[in-house]
Amino acid sequence: MSTTNRQILLASRPTGEPGTDNFKLVSTPVPTVADGQVLVRNHYLSLDPYMRGRMNEGKSYATPQPLGEVMIGGTVGEVVESRNAHFAVGDKVVGMGGWQEYQLVDANQRGVLQKVDTTHVPLSAYLGAVGMPGVTGWYGLVKIIDPKPGETVVVSAASGAVGGAVGQLAKVRGARAVGIAGGADKCRYVVEELGFDACIDYKQHGDVKSLSAALKGECPDGIDGYFENVGGMILDAVMHRANPFSRVAMCGMIAGYNGEPIPMSAPQLILVNRMKIEGFIVSEHMAVWPEALKELGTLVATGKLKYRESVAQGLDSAPEAFLGLLKGRNFGKQLVKLI
Ligand SMILES: NC(=O)c1ccc[n+]([C@@H]2O[C@H](COP(=O)([O-])OP(=O)(O)OC[C@H]3O[C@@H](n4cnc5c(N)ncnc54)[C@H](OP(=O)(O)O)[C@@H]3O)[C@@H](O)[C@H]2O)c1
Repeated sequence: MSTTNRQILLASRPTGEPGTDNFKLVSTPVPTVADGQVLVRNHYLSLDPYMRGRMNEGKSYATPQPLGEVMIGGTVGEVVESRNAHFAVGDKVVGMGGWQEYQLVDANQRGVLQKVDTTHVPLSAYLGAVGMPGVTGWYGLVKIIDPKPGETVVVSAASGAVGGAVGQLAKVRGARAVGIAGGADKCRYVVEELGFDACIDYKQHGDVKSLSAALKGECPDGIDGYFENVGGMILDAVMHRANPFSRVAMCGMIAGYNGEPIPMSAPQLILVNRMKIEGFIVSEHMAVWPEALKELGTLVATGKLKYRESVAQGLDSAPEAFLGLLKGRNFGKQLVKLI
């Protein structure tokens, strides 16, 4: 076992688009394990859009990432040393290990580290389809959109970790699933691999009118549910095709994460169509996680829920991979392999 733990710290706060200079790679000694603690060798780090918000100082639903500390992040790994009766060396675990190779966990605190079963579900999937992104898709679809058989559900960033799950879960419930994604390759994957009914490449549409016309073509009966991951022109175009009593799960607005304005051109349609628009943060709905994870885990284990991963190699690659995620360079769940 190495005696050095490499870590990536937040070195400075970005103004607008972040750069690699906002991060700093450091080496520290692997910490010593005290009573009740567990040392985990992280195998994969999850990179997620929410991290961009944490890099800001401003007030939000979560506290900012402190400067000079290890970047926050979900991890999966293996227990390499344990002084806690609930964990044994070799246990596979999921936790919030951050951007580093080893994490020391006070494992007596409830919920900070969960053992996972990798017999039928690969370890990395606990950061994606059978983890936070999967539960996010499940919550917005099941608890907010609540699609009925035959209804049409549209999801943006459809090839991503959250979006890919949303469309497949909608299909399981008998709905028509239409994705929106950037580029022909992503759209082909969404239809051919994930089984969506259609996918629209928003990059082929320069304005709301054009995208809205494409949506009309793929959603001849209008849109009953929209799972929002992006914002901007995509949201506007969907609004024009929304049915009376349609539901919108406001999950993310990645088009504005670097401070870009996200105007809404026709909010009166909310009233005209008596729409329900609800924002949510998945970590505030812990009560549904067991039910969601049960369905997601079963679907993945039986090959009925597909997903794709973009895997960057080594901790050093995390900043570049993160910047790429914010620009759509990832294709599926963005991970960093640490071992
Ligand atoms: N509310 C919650 O609790 C919660 C929890 C998890 C995630 N989220 C949100 O869910 C969304 C998806 O997250 P994810 O982890 O599944 O990421 P992801 O979809 O795997 O990756 C992000 C994708 O966003 C798209 N994108 C980036 N910039 C864009 C832009 N300017 N315009 C249009 N599309 C853009 C890109 O796809 P294309 O190439 O297709 O454009 C990119 O691949 C994010 O908005 C995230 O913040 C919310």
